[in-house]
Amino acid sequence: MKRYKLSKMIGDGTYGSVVRATNNETQELVAIKKMKKKYFSWEECVNLREVQTLKKLNHPNIIKLKEVIRENNELYFVFEYMDANLYQIMKDRDKPFSESKIRNIMYQVLQGLAYQHKMGYFHRDMKPENLLINKDTVKVADFGLAREIRARPPITEYVSTRWYRAPEVLMRSPNYNSPVDLWAVGVIMAELYTLRPLFPGTSEPDEIFKICSVLGTPTQENWSDGMRLAAGMNYKFPKFAQTPLETLIPNACPEAIQLMTDLMKYDPIKRPTASQALQYPYFQIGISAPIPVNNKYPNPQTQRQENNVSNISVQQDNSMGRKPQFVPQYGVVYPPKSHPPYPNQPFQPRFNPEEQIPSNSKPSSKAPSPSAKTGRQNNLIKNARYMPGQSTRTSPRKGIPTGPSGIPVK
Ligand SMILES: Nc1ncnc2c1ncn2[C@@H]1O[C@H](COP(=O)(O)OP(=O)(O)O)[C@@H](O)[C@H]1O
Ligand SMILES: [Mg+2]
Repeated sequence: MKRYKLSKMIGDGTYGSVVRATNNETQELVAIKKMKKKYFSWEECVNLREVQTLKKLNHPNIIKLKEVIRENNELYFVFEYMDANLYQIMKDRDKPFSESKIRNIMYQVLQGLAYQHKMGYFHRDMKPENLLINKDTVKVADFGLAREIRARPPITEYVSTRWYRAPEVLMRSPNYNSPVDLWAVGVIMAELYTLRPLFPGTSEPDEIFKICSVLGTPTQENWSDGMRLAAGMNYKFPKFAQTPLETLIPNACPEAIQLMTDLMKYDPIKRPTASQALQYPYFQIGISAPIPVNNKYPNPQTQRQENNVSNISVQQDNSMGRKPQFVPQYGVVYPPKSHPPYPNQPFQPRFNPEEQIPSNSKPSSKAPSPSAKTGRQNNLIKNARYMPGQSTRTSPRKGIPTGPSGIPVK
């Protein structure tokens, strides 16, 4: 640790506190996360999920772990430094982000997620605090809860931060998987538009209540597994009619609504995968060539240095191995300045055969018409039973407990 000059405290999360520091030799700015727990052996450190996952992931939209240091039984992770997290940049804003800014953030988050899922890991704690921003570049961080996609069910840890927790986790599905990350991304996307959390549940039952108040009560048709899970615990979903997302998020374009609607499907298998989400019309505005989804990412198998976690640095390949005509660079804000005409065609997702996670995704075929934003809509917003961001009690963003269900049993 003598090699670093610590400056300012930048974060205090669940498992560690994060300090900004400078490398004395190179003057490079880094973020050092000191774990709260003590570690008495190196082996214990190396086996940590965060280390195991991050040493295998090398992508421009995933935070880079540069070094792991154990000193006096304290464990430190040295990361590349980022200016802020997404929550910090949202909380002080009163003016909404431009749509191109949101599109750019979403694009990068989904790229990071698509890569991570393709590499066989799902994150399980996607939330604004874990998405880091440096100028226009966004990176997924905090892999403390990451799991292997191929891990055998049952998964009995019902984790993730409540407001971003997928319904199947709330309903204690024993085999939830990577679609939980897509749910969270949908919720985060809505929050980027409204600058308010969409489902700020004050408890697990309240979380389900808020979800149902927007999506409507789940049915046998749209989520048969959910009905089974509910029946298994003798739980009755609260009764609500659906409130269309366009009434709650009036500043989102129809393509954005279409993407959010599909990401926030009750049934995890009906949500698009991260790669499929990147193919949505939302990301095809002003693009003259298809977005490369089957990128040849650098192969961590060949780059990782097996028994040397303290030297994780690997080359970044920003070209992604392929050059389309239009290169949606990381950190480049999307075109265009004016919106092109909205597509009238029903959207059919293209199936990506390289996708690891099977999905029967059937995104909604209706692209809402641009004329939807009318006075009638404003009335609907006023009359909506649930307004995003409204919660009966204030809920702390940090330290939201996870654990055994608080679902009422009738
Ligand atoms: N590389 C980084 N650069 C800048 N800030 C960071 C970095 N890593 C973490 N932080 C800040 O510290 C907070 C907590 O870090 P995180 O890795 O999420 O730990 P925890 O597991 O404790 O939540 C983040 O929300 C973010 O604000
Ligand atoms: Mg965190």
